[in-house]
Amino acid sequence: MSDLSLFLGQFLRRPSEIRAIVPTGRAAANEMARPVTRQMEAVAEIGAGTGTITRAILASGLSPERLELYELNAAFCDRLRQRFPRTVVHNLPAQEMVNVGYRELDAVISGVPTLLMPDALQAAIVGAALSRMKRGAPFVQITYGPRPPLSEVVRARFNLTHVKSPRIWANLPPARVYVFRQGA
Ligand SMILES: C[S@@+](CC[C@H](N)C(=O)[O-])C[C@H]1O[C@@H](n2cnc3c(N)ncnc32)[C@H](O)[C@@H]1O
Repeated sequence: MSDLSLFLGQFLRRPSEIRAIVPTGRAAANEMARPVTRQMEAVAEIGAGTGTITRAILASGLSPERLELYELNAAFCDRLRQRFPRTVVHNLPAQEMVNVGYRELDAVISGVPTLLMPDALQAAIVGAALSRMKRGAPFVQITYGPRPPLSEVVRARFNLTHVKSPRIWANLPPARVYVFRQGA
């Protein structure tokens, strides 16, 4: 089954978890992966879906063994394991990364649809990620909305600053990429 059919089929079953009808396009995936370098020791991608951003991350030259993937959806995890057998795939919510991973992370790349999540869930995800990240490491988040994809409450709680990309029109829907850092 193609990625497109798999993605659409899972969206129809779980729209509130997936929140997009097609995978991220190449231009936005490349923007998401921009902060990743081959020298990094460990990186996590959360909400990896069918792996379009994963592919862009690995194109940086990062060794797949250094990439942890967290994805709620079991069918997507099967696809990720098949396609990226040397990465570490966890069929778990991103909030659990604090319980399973042990390496300090140089970056977290997030396709999890945080914008429409309540503050408590955003905070659980971001808090788990930050507890594993090196100080000042980037938390990269894609969004389709006009507002920052983490609420003001959550940004203030974790002392996050951000920069954002221009709107990426070559994506369905058009997207922006935010890079959050703590204490910058
Ligand atoms: C908009 S899709 C993005 C998929 C992929 N990254 C892409 O860009 O095509 C959001 C993904 O986040 C996953 N997801 C939602 N909540 C999650 C959570 N708390 N932890 C991990 N994955 C989650 C969904 O299952 C879905 O695969």
